[in-house]
Amino acid sequence: MKANKLIEDITAILQQKEEVNSRLQKLCARLLEDDPRFTWVGFYFMNHDTQKLHLGPYTGPATDHVIIPFGKGICGQVAVSGSTYVSDDVQAEQNYIACSLDVRSEIVIPIYDNDQPVAQLDIDSNTPESFKKEEQEILDEICRIVEENCAAEMHYKKLFSSL
Ligand code: SME
Repeated sequence: MKANKLIEDITAILQQKEEVNSRLQKLCARLLEDDPRFTWVGFYFMNHDTQKLHLGPYTGPATDHVIIPFGKGICGQVAVSGSTYVSDDVQAEQNYIACSLDVRSEIVIPIYDNDQPVAQLDIDSNTPESFKKEEQEILDEICRIVEENCAAEMHYKKLFSSL
């Protein structure tokens, strides 16, 4: 990861005058192309009323897991804990939902609007231990930039209000 260029590009993407899903979609594509180990990058939005996560913009293979109950899998655990989770080896996880059998490691980072968790950034890798300190720091910074620029627009009720 070339941190400076990546952060610069992502900041520019998030500050574009486009609707939030379109900006987040571009962010996913930029992150996926940044690291050849990454195979899937996407966002889940939190519906606090139903206690479920809903798949938002993503890049990578289509997943069956478009709705995940809080508590289920790594994403569901992060919905409950509110803290970043890194799995160096997803096959060793007791509570894991496989999107692809080739995935080996995963990171899920919560996105907050002030004190309220509204979404998550989820990244899969087919290489074990892809999310070490360096990657975590860069991805954390990216999520803070997402929060500064988009978090207010990432509430489930705003995004899915027409459903
Ligand atoms: N692996 C995740 C499910 C989401 S997919 O990776 C896209 C989990 O265990 O929650």
